[in-house]
Amino acid sequence: MRVVLGVAGGIAAYKACSLLRLLAEAGHDVTVVPTAAALRFVGAPTWAALSGKPVSTDVWSDVHEVPHVRLGQEADLVVVAPATADLLARAATGQADDLLTNVLLTARCPVVMAPAMHTEMWDHPATQANVATLSERGVHVVPPASGRLTGKDTGPGRLPDPEELYAVCERELARSASASASVAPAGAAAPATPSADAARGGGDLTGRRVVVSAGGTREPLDPVRFLGNRSSGKQGHALAVAAAARGALVTLVTSAPTDVPGIDIVPVETALQMREAVLEAAARSDVVVMAAAVADFRPATYAPSKIKKTHDVQADGGEDDSAPTITLVRNPDILAELVATRGGASSPVIVGFAAETGDAEGSVLEHARAKLERKGCDVLVVNEVGEDRTFGADDNTVTILRRVSDEGIEVGPASKAAVSDAVWDVVAPLL
Ligand code: C5P
Repeated sequence: MRVVLGVAGGIAAYKACSLLRLLAEAGHDVTVVPTAAALRFVGAPTWAALSGKPVSTDVWSDVHEVPHVRLGQEADLVVVAPATADLLARAATGQADDLLTNVLLTARCPVVMAPAMHTEMWDHPATQANVATLSERGVHVVPPASGRLTGKDTGPGRLPDPEELYAVCERELARSASASASVAPAGAAAPATPSADAARGGGDLTGRRVVVSAGGTREPLDPVRFLGNRSSGKQGHALAVAAAARGALVTLVTSAPTDVPGIDIVPVETALQMREAVLEAAARSDVVVMAAAVADFRPATYAPSKIKKTHDVQADGGEDDSAPTITLVRNPDILAELVATRGGASSPVIVGFAAETGDAEGSVLEHARAKLERKGCDVLVVNEVGEDRTFGADDNTVTILRRVSDEGIEVGPASKAAVSDAVWDVVAPLL
């Protein structure tokens, strides 16, 4: 396949060398189009040697071959990594002042952009508006990873690892190959229909910012012990992957972190850490899905060294070998806080999860409907729990309840991926 690798002028340009290698080793025909600023970080000879092709930054080289039009027209994929704040701004406003921006205007294939910059630049409303514009036009923006930046500072802004970007590129190439007749050009907005076709990656969440929480929190007692629960995080991870496949920019706040290409993973352990990460990401999101099993209680105190089996020497010189009493305090209810603090038209759609059993007081659904009202979220995904239902399974059976309708949607038994798509089918029209 023909791939154009655009490289903008950021320190992460060196990582694009590895991405180029991965693409070339996979047999793709890669043309590198750096910006003039990118060449200050990695020189033209490096790109030429790794790609086996000459490189140029402006539209005045090899004019007889009309590269500013041909490269974009003939490409099967354009990937820009790193995409700097400046490049995003120029692309969003349709400027054509160098070869890369010309390629972006002439490309009718999938376009992937991987922004990398300092956190302040990424968070700036101007950059966020440019990202939103590009996403709405169908550009697949891979959110920057969190971590160490150029200096000693840390935060969101890192270019994801080349292997992750390579996986996103392969996914886009495979998607465009299988649907080449119907792929929306990168310059046009993707369709916003929640149809079954869209559910399989047609992009009905394109440009939407989604936060998913996953896994069971661990509430530490001392450096080696914690209170936890059996949640595996699989359903939350499947929701994140399904949202990314439908075009969303996904932040996954999880206590069970695994590498998922193209998804910003925020690893957390405790309910308090999860609260901080979710609220921070929710402030700039269109949807928050609380799939995590957040511990309702945590130990009131944390012992900085391991609590010994025997403790406290008694007045008579003997050791107290009774079991210690653990006092618990309540954790904040993150879902309730999200509901309580939202306001205005730009509030995110909020999805909760509930594990319920039926009892003498009412059926699973009656309890769940009451919980939806009590919690005030827009959608509640109800899991019936019982002895024969195991945590960590690959399948799930749920009922999806919406505030806007009395009808519940039953899903399963089905894979957690299929359950995820059913959830997004319900959420997408609410956006
Ligand atoms: O009330 P219950 O714990 O059944 O509600 C479950 C829902 O509330 C889930 O979406 C879970 O992620 C969320 N939750 C929360 N903070 C807590 C407890 C639960 O956000 N402390």
